[in-house]
Amino acid sequence: MSRLVVVSNRVALPKKVPAGGLAAAMQGALAERGGLWFGWSGRVVPDRKRELHRIHSGRIDYALLDLTRAEYDQYYVGFANRTLWPLLHFRPSLIDYDRDEFTGYRRVNALFAEHLARLLRPDDLIWVNDYHLIPFAAELRSLGIAARIGFFLHVPMPPPELLVTLPHHEQLFRSLAAYDLVGLQTRRDLAAFLGYMRMENHATASDDGRVALADGRAFRAGVFPVGIDVDAVARQAQLAAATPAVVKLMQSLEGQRLTIGVDRLDYSKGLLQRFAAFGAFLEQHSEWRARVSFLQIAPPTREEVPEYGELRERLEREAGATNGRYAHPHWVPIRYVNRSFQQATLSGFFRSADVALVTPLRDGMNLVAKEYVAAQAPEDPGVLVLSRFAGAADELAEAIIINPLDPVDIVESLQAALTMPLPERRRRWQAMFEHVRRNDIHRWRSSYIDALAA
Ligand code: F6P
Repeated sequence: MSRLVVVSNRVALPKKVPAGGLAAAMQGALAERGGLWFGWSGRVVPDRKRELHRIHSGRIDYALLDLTRAEYDQYYVGFANRTLWPLLHFRPSLIDYDRDEFTGYRRVNALFAEHLARLLRPDDLIWVNDYHLIPFAAELRSLGIAARIGFFLHVPMPPPELLVTLPHHEQLFRSLAAYDLVGLQTRRDLAAFLGYMRMENHATASDDGRVALADGRAFRAGVFPVGIDVDAVARQAQLAAATPAVVKLMQSLEGQRLTIGVDRLDYSKGLLQRFAAFGAFLEQHSEWRARVSFLQIAPPTREEVPEYGELRERLEREAGATNGRYAHPHWVPIRYVNRSFQQATLSGFFRSADVALVTPLRDGMNLVAKEYVAAQAPEDPGVLVLSRFAGAADELAEAIIINPLDPVDIVESLQAALTMPLPERRRRWQAMFEHVRRNDIHRWRSSYIDALAA
């Protein structure tokens, strides 16, 4: 069996809480099969102190490279998160394009490729992840690496009309042709990508994902919706019921209902709209005051990016205003928590919650939606309220599907969720649970690797 080499900017270190869906998914994907995981060490150091850190844990070998301040600023903060992130999340007005940052981004891709190339074996299967590393295969190819290289985009792929707003988009997106396989989350993402390849690269592309360029280069693209480790989440959720964190949460509710949201503190997650809608819900449904609490867990990320700091301030104001307006001495409507929790604890929180609000403005997949489903008690499951703009909505049609831009939609869905009769909750949950179980992380990993190796 070939060795699996996973490449991603963010790497989940052993025993650390993974930051975001990608790290959690890749950790799950590597845990069973084992392999090498290459990426950024998370450290920013002066050039002379740069190191490639080698760690071995369980079945995974890690190779983690430090970045200098200038590299980190241009590649990660700048081009990846101030240009590509808003572009890929349909927010062109937030793009802050800078040519030097694009150069820095390509330079870091080349640097990563040089370091990884030294560790590669000829029959490795290389699986590169996400928007930080679009030109990575082209860099490896220029170093003579002929191994199979696949790419998976965890975030959305917007339509060609949006992609072309990026200066030098041709240079960037054409480099995807250096991969053997480009994986996307949904059929819509695939259609957008094929549309771009046809329109901008004069490629012939069949709807099933075979792409051929005028220069003879050919590769495949396909849909591989990322899943979760359903059995592990279900087990953790059951066991977590007796842990102090979950027991204390339940005691603090004193019989009130619980609505939960868990997201990185990111403008793509629709948190402002969600907070405002919860305030509007309490305004319109006074019968629920002091009878339902909303727990929003939102660990801050990318704090060097100005938009994230602004969002944090606005959320604090919004939560403070709603709490000031409706709180009682014995009840606070919004419990707003800016820290991360272990997956096991989160699973317990999910099982305790009557409703999950997963209302991103745009999301590649959103694994929280799937984790919430996996964590429910079969005899008394909660209700998932899910944005139509999350990739997960393609798979979880039995959730209450909403448009997060319409506050009335969120308010009505919350009311419907809190009053939904048990037989309907069970019916909807059963269908979603069976789906996430059939299409779990193991299936995602093996279907992607089989397609890459084929
Ligand atoms: O899942 C999308 C994603 O952007 C990943 O690529 C990323 O690792 C994760 O969210 C968390 O973001 P960051 O690595 O910037 O903290």
